[in-house]
Amino acid sequence: MDRRRWMLGAVSFLGAVSLQGILGRVPWARADGQGTVIHWPADLSKLQGLEVDHVPLIRVQPAGERKDLVNLEIQVGQRLHEMTLLHAIHWVQLWVDEHKVSQMTLTPGRVVPKWRFTLRRMGSMRVMVRVGCNRHGIWANRLAV
Ligand SMILES: [Fe+2]
Repeated sequence: MDRRRWMLGAVSFLGAVSLQGILGRVPWARADGQGTVIHWPADLSKLQGLEVDHVPLIRVQPAGERKDLVNLEIQVGQRLHEMTLLHAIHWVQLWVDEHKVSQMTLTPGRVVPKWRFTLRRMGSMRVMVRVGCNRHGIWANRLAV
């Protein structure tokens, strides 16, 4: 291994170690085991700073008379995240019980980061929503339904 490659590897390793150290002290930012940082809300009742327009909010609604279905209303942020060419939510994922059931790629400009999903209810479910902002990374929230 040449010296330059060794140095790059060492810098990369030290960067990962110090990032892990920093993340260990920040309660709302955790790595997912593959090195991806995911921001979780510290307290949903008191969103602060970047949380205000990045945390995906999940609201459960009945699906009319269909007891076997449930509607999820999801929006990115208490204050809807902007969707400009320079700063936007570029993707959203819906997970149910650790399985990704839906993923959308968004094009900034005309799309508003607000959706309704209808799910088939299968007992109690744990729903998680992840969104990706091109400037502020990945944000997530979860809810037992
Ligand atoms: Fe953002």
